[in-house]
Amino acid sequence: MKNILVTGGAGFIGSNFIRHMLSIYDYNIINLDLLTYAGNLENLMKFENYNNYFFIKGDITNKMLIEDIFDKYFIDTVINFAAESHVDRSISNPEIFLKTNVLGTQVLLDVAKNKWKCNPDDKYCFKFMDGVRFIQVSTDEVYGTLGEKGLFTEETPISPNSPYSASKASADMFVRAYYETFKLPINITRCSNNYGPYQFPEKLIPLMINNCENNKLLPIYGDGMQIRDWLHVKDHCRGIDSVLHKGEIGEIYNIGGNNEKANIDIVKIIIKKLNKNKDLITYVNDRPGHDRRYAIDNTKITKELGWKPLYTFEDGIYETIDWYMNNKKWLERVVSGDYLKYYSSMYALSYR
Ligand code: NAD
Ligand code: TYD
Repeated sequence: MKNILVTGGAGFIGSNFIRHMLSIYDYNIINLDLLTYAGNLENLMKFENYNNYFFIKGDITNKMLIEDIFDKYFIDTVINFAAESHVDRSISNPEIFLKTNVLGTQVLLDVAKNKWKCNPDDKYCFKFMDGVRFIQVSTDEVYGTLGEKGLFTEETPISPNSPYSASKASADMFVRAYYETFKLPINITRCSNNYGPYQFPEKLIPLMINNCENNKLLPIYGDGMQIRDWLHVKDHCRGIDSVLHKGEIGEIYNIGGNNEKANIDIVKIIIKKLNKNKDLITYVNDRPGHDRRYAIDNTKITKELGWKPLYTFEDGIYETIDWYMNNKKWLERVVSGDYLKYYSSMYALSYR
């Protein structure tokens, strides 16, 4: 039995991860999420009545709250998804990235260290029979950018280029430091770009699907030849599950989809599938500091933990486009902002 604190569980990957976990295990899942613009509780409506799922609205930078949660739910596992996650927003407002992504992670680490009684003399700390573990969900963007050749391995030097990736890299350094200094049992996972159901339509794929469907222009930054290594969110969730159950304490695991695609090619696939006109494509000013290419070497997690991605990009992208087309109400409520009212209608009143 585990009592897992999932932070940021109302976001894109966190909500897919909670769905994955609740469909396989009977662990207790405690979802702590601030419900920023990116948090959508409607993603998890189905689980509201489960007696092993708990939602708490709150901030990962609130130390007292985190301590209370650890005490109340006997937290033995933390999986930290909570973050500001959009590069463009980090360019216009870097400060919140520092607060949530760096300070928030350090607060979680510190509470875990204290509650699990980690100390520098232990190999690593055990308070519960099953052991305890802190997993930091990071990103391949901490490695910076690649040229035409080469892949990111876990040994690639950290070299972040955006305020977002700088904040994630800083958080990773704190996670590493808590392992080295206090023997907190940690893992860091670094994944490539995720796609799939429930992604906020500010990110490339859902934004283009939504715009295309509504005959709006499709803004391509720069020449559109930037390459990302696309990972289906369900494969990513299975990867984190593998790290949780089989990962070696202290290790970093890269998780990638082996699916390198140029942005413009993805947009063309979406246009074709939705039967729209290529004239919707509009080239706009490039993102400052735009990383040219990301691509992950999966060898470590594949060989050591037996994980591999199951989705081909071709299957995954068609399934994803179908999902958004079959869930237009979800998309409309996100775009209109109506999803933000869900928490107050469902939860806030019951806590009065
Ligand atoms: P997201 O933006 O969809 O969700 C983030 C969630 O965190 C939201 O529910 C938000 O309400 C919550 N949150 C924000 N600030 C908080 C705070 N202070 N306290 C508590 N909750 C807070 O992000 P995502 O795409 O699901 O990404 C999840 C994690 O995976 C992030 O750490 C991100 O850096 C990482 N990641 C994402 C991708 C990707 O392609 N989406 C790729 C690599 C790594
Ligand atoms: P994004 O989904 O923001 O993820 P990240 O920046 O973390 O990789 O962007 C993916 C790629 O798509 C990136 O190269 C920027 C590009 N992009 C566009 O060309 N137009 C857009 O409107 C967006 C949101 C992204």
